[in-house]
Amino acid sequence: MGYGDPVAAGPLTRAHALALDDADPLASFRDRFELGDGDRIYVDGNSLGRLSAGAREALSEAVDEWGTRLVTGWHDWVDLPTAVGDELGAAALGAAPGQVLACDSTTVNLYKLAGAVLAAHAGAVVVPADDFPTDRYVLDGLAKAHGRELRMLESDPVAGPATDAVARAAHGAALVVLSHVNYRSGALADMPALTRAVQTAGALVLWDLCHSAGAVDVGLDAAGADLAVGCTYKYLNAGPGSPAFLYVAAPHQGSLQSPIQGWFSQADQFAMGPRYEPVAGIGRFLAGTPPVLGLAAVRAGIAVLAEAGMAAVRRKAAAVTALAIDLHDERLAGLGFTLGTPRDPDARGAHVSLRHPDAWRVCRALIEHANVVPDFRHPDSIRLGLPPLYTRYVDV
Ligand SMILES: Cc1ncc(COP(=O)(O)O)c(C=O)c1O
Repeated sequence: MGYGDPVAAGPLTRAHALALDDADPLASFRDRFELGDGDRIYVDGNSLGRLSAGAREALSEAVDEWGTRLVTGWHDWVDLPTAVGDELGAAALGAAPGQVLACDSTTVNLYKLAGAVLAAHAGAVVVPADDFPTDRYVLDGLAKAHGRELRMLESDPVAGPATDAVARAAHGAALVVLSHVNYRSGALADMPALTRAVQTAGALVLWDLCHSAGAVDVGLDAAGADLAVGCTYKYLNAGPGSPAFLYVAAPHQGSLQSPIQGWFSQADQFAMGPRYEPVAGIGRFLAGTPPVLGLAAVRAGIAVLAEAGMAAVRRKAAAVTALAIDLHDERLAGLGFTLGTPRDPDARGAHVSLRHPDAWRVCRALIEHANVVPDFRHPDSIRLGLPPLYTRYVDV
């Protein structure tokens, strides 16, 4: 495939990369971000996205609103988790309104949704053995608390879990938790096929979208997904510790209940009554007071993404990662590096993982001597995050 429209793949030279930037339909979006770090090449947006002018402005306005409105602001703030959730669902997740909340952290949202499933359904919990640690740790704790088996699924370190292996592990399970884009390899899972396989085996599927939300188009409703969680500080650029999100497909909302019986999920919140009765709909997965300031930045991140359009973002993610892979093949493969990311652009997200026995020292050298910020994942992966909104071909 070529490196984005309309210029096709060409020689692996700096001049060609500059030509690709000239032809990049998303090039102007880079100006929306604060690039005060001079010549530094930031390829760690898959850990923490850049600060945008829109997020700075939204945060400043939210602070002003806090200062002027004080407690009266809650009249509007109280609905932010559902309003921002709907915006996120439409712009980046392929979710119809009333199914997404912007709230809490990914870890807490995973605990709420997985706990809700285990309380309602008998059976084991399944997670890939190499999935992100917080997912495995939360599920381990929940499995113990509910007296369930935790099945750790072995999978290919580059390609990710195979559909038939997932289907086998899902038999007799209540819940299967999968990452849409793997945090280490960048492998993009086939969400529709895996969702079908899990559901056919009789379990529910919960997708971790941390590395896919804002990086690739996600179609939760179209895939028939049951549940999902994810963060907004990576490709949604909402800042360190920004509120996460959760998705519960409408048909499940009546039968699942959060294990955190917080007052924001109470049917008549301000009656302050003696008994907990969760509200109908997605609001029953709220816990406590929403993070209003952080939600302002999430909203700004969604707005930029909606303007760019997920289709264009996805095309550029495929193109910049393809350029990185071609450069790996030409210049690094002979130096002890191997590619830790799928070659098929339809099977990867927006980061590329290069493996090397000395990955840690290579990362340190890039940071200290080359003014490049990648990240390292134990034991041998150098991750290069290439967020389409602000990464140039010449950076690659
Ligand atoms: C795939 C994945 N899941 C979960 C998390 C953790 O989420 P949090 O610490 O925001 O709760 C991360 C963090 O990077 C992640 O990459």
